[in-house]
Amino acid sequence: MERTLSIIKPDGVKKNLIGAVVKRFQDEGFKIAAMRMIHMSTREAEGFYYVHKERPFFGSLTDFMTSGPSVVMVLERENAIAKNREIMGATNPADAAEGTLRKQYADNIENNIVHGSDAPETAAFEIGYFFKGLEIF
Ligand code: CMP
Repeated sequence: MERTLSIIKPDGVKKNLIGAVVKRFQDEGFKIAAMRMIHMSTREAEGFYYVHKERPFFGSLTDFMTSGPSVVMVLERENAIAKNREIMGATNPADAAEGTLRKQYADNIENNIVHGSDAPETAAFEIGYFFKGLEIF
């Protein structure tokens, strides 16, 4: 069993996609091990995306992530990190495969509906960023 962090970003929440995204993950065999709705502060968004701090889109990304509430979740199943990324599709929805969440719902590379950890070390950091051990079931 592996765990990954998933975020339904502010655009996904605004488009009323919480139910559709959670259903997709559950239909794909993920257990929701933790879940919370939050409205990230600038400091929280900057800390979460610190690996991108030198990128030209960093300010825009953190503005977007603080623009409204999002849903943070810990997803659990075999091969969770890769499977979640497969279901999300490419970062840019223009490149995302048919049947992926981003192809289906996302508007552009920034407003791309969902986030998922990209490696085991990232998943460990990202899960610990939002959840204490006692909040993960
Ligand atoms: P995510 O998987 O959350 O990880 C980093 C995010 O930065 C990514 O999704 C996009 O939302 C955003 N991002 C990546 N590349 C770009 C880009 N070229 N322009 C704007 N936003 C980007």
